[in-house]
Amino acid sequence: MRALGVIEAEHRNMWRVTNALGVLADRLAGERAAQDRATDLATVALIADYLETFTERFHHPKESDLLFARIRRRSNEAAAIIDRLERDHEMSPHQVERIRDLARPVAGKPVAPEGERAAKLVEEIGSFRTRLGEHMRLEEDVTFPLARKVLTAEDWADVDASFDAHVDPLGDPHAPAEIALLRARITALLPAPEGLGGHSDTVVEKLTPRRAKAEGTLLAVSDLTCRYGRIEALHGVSLEIGAGELVALVGANGAGKTTLLRCISGVQPAAVGAIRYGGQDITRMRADARVRAGIAQVPEGRQVFGPMSIEDNLVMGAYTRPSSEIRAGLDEVYDLFPILRERRKLSAGTLSGGQQQMLAVGRAMMSRPKLLLLDEPSMGLAPLIVEEIFRIVKMLKEAGITILLVEQNARAALAVADHAYVLETGSVTLEGSGPELLKNDDVRRAYLGM
Ligand SMILES: Nc1ncnc2c1ncn2[C@@H]1O[C@H](COP(=O)(O)OP(=O)(O)OP(=O)(O)O)[C@@H](O)[C@H]1O
Ligand SMILES: [Mg+2]
Repeated sequence: MRALGVIEAEHRNMWRVTNALGVLADRLAGERAAQDRATDLATVALIADYLETFTERFHHPKESDLLFARIRRRSNEAAAIIDRLERDHEMSPHQVERIRDLARPVAGKPVAPEGERAAKLVEEIGSFRTRLGEHMRLEEDVTFPLARKVLTAEDWADVDASFDAHVDPLGDPHAPAEIALLRARITALLPAPEGLGGHSDTVVEKLTPRRAKAEGTLLAVSDLTCRYGRIEALHGVSLEIGAGELVALVGANGAGKTTLLRCISGVQPAAVGAIRYGGQDITRMRADARVRAGIAQVPEGRQVFGPMSIEDNLVMGAYTRPSSEIRAGLDEVYDLFPILRERRKLSAGTLSGGQQQMLAVGRAMMSRPKLLLLDEPSMGLAPLIVEEIFRIVKMLKEAGITILLVEQNARAALAVADHAYVLETGSVTLEGSGPELLKNDDVRRAYLGM
């Protein structure tokens, strides 16, 4: 019956996205400045893209594949319900397409006059939300309880197996990055209070993919020792990061935090121990192969190339991707950080510290990472900018990217972390949930100055 839990988690995600759509429709129905209206329309079009990818490509096929057929087979009364649900699945792509065409007119298709188009869009969104809401309720309130009653253990084994064979776009570390990126782009565009939840801790927590933990560990470092010549910088470090988690690593200067990140990204060899990533042993894998596998490091001190243009800095981050994908990658990063688009022709050295940090993160995003290693992103930045950087970190997490965050700013790091480790002179001395460590007396004394 695991399958039903997956569907319900995906439904919750769709509720949030379609609620955002509703908010935008309300705004479009009112009087708006042309500029604001254009932004809202662009956001609606992006949400349509997201729904198309998420719902049409991942969510619906899972249900249609086997679950519906088994319910139909086991229950006569279910036949009519399943008919209705399947009809919805057939109609939904057309509706999403109409919404997108109205929000982002397609070349060659006639465009209705301004006021008329907005009114039609508002109406389409309204009817889409109503139907989707009815559809989800029909599944959750009627169909699934029925399925729980009539399906046999064998049915469930088959259905669950068929779900496992499909990609889970929320919790699967192998889910395509486009889902995460579309989500991040939407979150970045939405007005703050209506965000997809990225702007408040409580919602971020709910947004944690439900199956992230069940999906298992994305990265497991075990008993890792690392040496610089005769100096041993890490002495048998072990840690784990679940898919979708934000894990913080705090520790004093020289504790070995950067060394650990460099071992994970492969630029520093491990002397002893193992690093497993997505179930594969990568201890001896070359650094560039790790980038291809989805591990990207944002180095300490940003290390952007000052004399080069911002855009060229970003393009460098895409060296593992075919050149045909670079344009799209740039657009994705520019949507995340509009300031970089605005200044793309300028040299990176003209950016402020905070903007250079965005550039460094953007450069890492160009490789479409699943696991992002962030080394002291807030270092040397003014408090307001630090806040902005942590907002970005949360947004990336929300977009489904797994993050290992190294920070001297332990208070801020622990506040956003699902789980955290304390590293002292090359050894892990403490681990726990972020809030747990924030309350821990030793941590408070050593890292929070209390
Ligand atoms: N290239 C190197 N050669 C020799 N020793 C090194 C090298 N890099 C780091 N070390 C040593 O390894 C230990 C761990 O350093 P590392 O940079 O990993 O610490 P850190 O926790 O990142 O510190 P910081 O907070 O300063 O960034 C330190 O004792 C450091 O002097
Ligand atoms: Mg360091």
